[in-house]
Amino acid sequence: MITPAVRARVENLGTHELPCYLYDTSGLRDHVAAVRAALPRRVELYYAAKANPAPEILAALAGLVDGCEVSSGGELAHVRRRLPGTALAFGGPGKTEAELADALRLGVARFHVESRHELHLLAALAARVAPGRDVDVLLRVNLPLGPGVLRGAALAMGGDPSPFGLDPDGVESCLDVFAGPDAGRLRVRGIHAHLASGLDAETQVDVGARIVAWTRALANRRRVELREVNIGGGMAVDYANPTERFDWRAFGAGLARILADDPALVLRIEPGRALTAYCGWYATEVLDVKHSHGEAFAVLRGGTHHLRTPAAKQHDQPFTVVPTATAWPHPWPRPELHEAPVTLTGQLCTPKDVFARRKPVHVLRAGDRIAFAMAGAYAWNISHHDFLMHPHPTFRQV
Ligand SMILES: Cc1ncc(COP(=O)(O)O)c(C=O)c1O
Repeated sequence: MITPAVRARVENLGTHELPCYLYDTSGLRDHVAAVRAALPRRVELYYAAKANPAPEILAALAGLVDGCEVSSGGELAHVRRRLPGTALAFGGPGKTEAELADALRLGVARFHVESRHELHLLAALAARVAPGRDVDVLLRVNLPLGPGVLRGAALAMGGDPSPFGLDPDGVESCLDVFAGPDAGRLRVRGIHAHLASGLDAETQVDVGARIVAWTRALANRRRVELREVNIGGGMAVDYANPTERFDWRAFGAGLARILADDPALVLRIEPGRALTAYCGWYATEVLDVKHSHGEAFAVLRGGTHHLRTPAAKQHDQPFTVVPTATAWPHPWPRPELHEAPVTLTGQLCTPKDVFARRKPVHVLRAGDRIAFAMAGAYAWNISHHDFLMHPHPTFRQV
């Protein structure tokens, strides 16, 4: 699974560079180009920057995505600076007045409005900050889809009570605002929905078709134009089976069927994880190998304060052992194990600091290197970096 280029880079990193995040940015570009090619032309591909806003990741995506979805003032300013020409959609709950005002000044392409209060706030600010300019809005809906529709979801945000988006009747009430004088230059362009993460292609198409059908029915009933539908992200990434990939071709074919029914429809998606997860590696070294009450543990330099993904998602992070060629420099025996299951932990003083549990290895020795795969999304940027004041990792490109 590890590519020869990544393996060589892991072998050649200096000890002082470990732990190290390695980003295979040319692999990322190839992957996203293949995703783009699998999608119909009329589908706009936005990148959810929350998955990984690292400058080198954003730079690699330049020209391959139609825009970025940002969910805070920080992401907004950062992505605008790094990708100045890229269209931005500003989503997320609890946008502050200052964030909305900045977004208006920066001229974001779409506001994903999450509540009626936010709509009023945006309208009032727009009149002050961006007078005379149209401001384009999608209303984010928390659409109940019925039992079993979001099957297999790793995280479901749709249908259940949540702080995200508007209930269908809340969407209707926002349409009333657009119909009245309070909306000013705000224009409702359509609907946004991000209802779950971890869905396979067939389920994503089914969910997308339901969101589009609901939007069409609403537009007809209310006699408003709702041409744009953003069906969100959440394309599945399977950490237990790294070679099983989301079926972008099947997804693209399904979206083509949805588009065929409605020549005026603009469909947009905003995946994060499924775009960048595979391009990132967290490389580190084995500090110690020990046994505790009959089980083997390898303690690694670094920990889940750098790579929180396995702790956050309660999974085993896939990894490859990269043996070191250098001789053991000490006069005492090298800690090692052979043909045994081992739990890989970090340096934190908590039993939750675990990368992978009871995984079989052929040989593992202190000083060997470990390359954790699938560390390109929700990895460094979701981690509690400063807990215990260990040094931060380095960042390199393959
Ligand atoms: C509104 C919204 N859009 C897109 C995404 C990206 O989801 P994923 O990284 O699972 O594709 C998220 C993730 O939480 C989200 O909240």
